[in-house]
Amino acid sequence: MRKNRERKIVDFLSILESASASGYVSGQLLAKSAGISRSAVWKHVRQLRRYGYGIDSTHGLGYRMVSRTSAPVPWELKKRLKTRIIGKEIIHRDSRDSTQSIALAIATKCPEADGTVVILEHQKSGRGRLKRKWLSPAGGLWLSVLSRPRVETPSMTVLPLVAALAVRNAIVDTTHLRASLKWPNDVMISGKKVAGILLDVSAEAEILNYAVFGIGINANVDAKEIATKAAVAQEITSLKEELGHEVNRLELAAAVLQNLECQIDKFVSVGPGPIISEWKKNTDMLGTRISVLHDGNEIQHGIAADLDTDGALIVISDSGEKSRVTSGDLRIRF
Ligand code: BTN
Repeated sequence: MRKNRERKIVDFLSILESASASGYVSGQLLAKSAGISRSAVWKHVRQLRRYGYGIDSTHGLGYRMVSRTSAPVPWELKKRLKTRIIGKEIIHRDSRDSTQSIALAIATKCPEADGTVVILEHQKSGRGRLKRKWLSPAGGLWLSVLSRPRVETPSMTVLPLVAALAVRNAIVDTTHLRASLKWPNDVMISGKKVAGILLDVSAEAEILNYAVFGIGINANVDAKEIATKAAVAQEITSLKEELGHEVNRLELAAAVLQNLECQIDKFVSVGPGPIISEWKKNTDMLGTRISVLHDGNEIQHGIAADLDTDGALIVISDSGEKSRVTSGDLRIRF
């Protein structure tokens, strides 16, 4: 039903688009070309405007498309993707609880589903790492990707780093801002968090059954408002604030999906080595003094010395003792 509606709107869009190339097109002609009534034309126009297309309507002349959308709608995203698996199926809705719960439900219900992408304009109950809330107002890029890469369970710990690297690269490709990585999987700009990754996995015996990558990017949101409402300890920012103008979320989403598939493929074919070394090249954190926090309490501090082959952080204490950190939050100490 919904697919059918989507197809109709996409067909209408392409008719309007090609007609707009030579100026205004009358409602009557649009209705005739699309095989729909005049009132259906108006409904389609209203729907397309809601999706973010600029459509001018002038009495006596008709309609003309004046600008395209920058919202990550499935038909526009698919046009931009050169992926093999990710994004063959894209679900985009206005507002639901969380992209992660929708993608997890698909993962368990449809064993053949692979590469499905779920995008929400607004999440009512976004989830963050360590059971935290993730505030997700309109303007952000909130998406989950269901993936079934052929990896063995011991190397699963590298998957969050795979996704963080892909998101960091997508942000750099799209905005040219200087984004860096903070262990375990935060993307930072000027020392402030701009994006986070949540990973849910299911494994049987030695084999990964599925992974759901939850990706949250503060794209065109008011970071100060989020910080106040979420009362987070960490400083946060948004791409809009760093750029001084809005980012095109459609191009950003396409870059995220493209980079994610590329990094997953690399990981599956050559293992964690290249991921770990690229991750290390794109962090400002190694060599600095850090505190490791669990539930907001400092449990350890020292120098963030290195990243192990499984993604664990190697910390050297003041007495020179080496230890591996596999979970928690980091605070950079100055
Ligand atoms: C973090 O705590 O840093 C991870 C945040 C992950 C948020 C994203 S937004 C899309 C997806 N759906 C959710 O409910 N959470 C993730």
